[in-house]
Amino acid sequence: MEEKIARLKKQAEEVIRQKVGNLSDLNEIRVRYLGKKGEITTLLHSLGEIAKEERPRVGQIVNDARRQLEDLISEKTAELKEKELKAKLAKEHIDVTLSGRHAWRGHPHPLTITLDRIKTIFMDMGFSVEEGPEIERDYFNFEALNLPKDHPARDMQDSFYITDEILMRTQTSPVQARTMQAHEPNSPIRMIAPGRVYRRDDYDATHSPMFTQVEGLVIDKGIRFSDLKGTLELFLQKIFHAGIGVRFRPSFFPFTEPSAEVDISCVMCHGKGCRVCKGTGWLEILGAGMVHPHVLEMSGYDPKQVSGFAFGLGVERIAMLSYGIDDLRLFYDNDLRFLRQF
Ligand code: DAH
Repeated sequence: MEEKIARLKKQAEEVIRQKVGNLSDLNEIRVRYLGKKGEITTLLHSLGEIAKEERPRVGQIVNDARRQLEDLISEKTAELKEKELKAKLAKEHIDVTLSGRHAWRGHPHPLTITLDRIKTIFMDMGFSVEEGPEIERDYFNFEALNLPKDHPARDMQDSFYITDEILMRTQTSPVQARTMQAHEPNSPIRMIAPGRVYRRDDYDATHSPMFTQVEGLVIDKGIRFSDLKGTLELFLQKIFHAGIGVRFRPSFFPFTEPSAEVDISCVMCHGKGCRVCKGTGWLEILGAGMVHPHVLEMSGYDPKQVSGFAFGLGVERIAMLSYGIDDLRLFYDNDLRFLRQF
């Protein structure tokens, strides 16, 4: 019995010290000797077979052997754990010289940037910013702007009708009538109204069935054409550059009288004549005029007491000219290669 114990103990110690290289092998050894059916455990159970007076002594030897093996195993366990951790750390080392993963930050769309610049310039001149619905009543979009149902000037704006009385607004001008009607009659107004407008149109480099406009309306006692000229000249100088050429040409809009088309000297060739200005040196940039007395009247204002001017401009056009963009579709196609340049 004693011999057997000594042999088993020696065997186990040798294996643990010399052969076991990882935790799972060590566990196998533990089970083999010290588990429920392990060899040392079995020896303890067979103590009953030896003489009674020998039992305490031999039992003591078996127990000592077991305890020593247990100690050896926990020592080895700690050693192996340490070894495995070191191996893992060596394998998983972090390369701190690797460049970081960078979080993409969004930024405003070029049309939003342009619109913000336009708003800032007018807000600095004391204008408020108004809004109107994109789904608009025929009454505000046309009638209240001096375009009754059978007016031929309606043909200039091919529209998307929802019912006979409701359409996608073709211009931001309806916000003129809405703003006047929201005010006390004859009270002063100095506002711009930016937003999307819709017209039946092609989709190509210069046309889109949806685009962006900014409307402007100023009403007060004694507003004159020179106020309109001064305001728009200052705006155009700020949005493009000081010293830009500005000219007013007579034109027609049903809601203004007189009406003007406003041109700037070509931003590409500075007036010399190029492909962009079709050799003329000028670029048409917005429409404007003195608010028609009938338009004032229809929204409750008295043209004998107050007068006003109005204007309407296309945001895409201004953005294209400021950035040198030659295809309108780039604004709407969501191509990140284009958008990331702004
Ligand atoms: N609403 C016009 C258009 O879409 C632009 C315009 C011209 C607006 C003259 C005005 C204006 O307020 O006075 O073509």
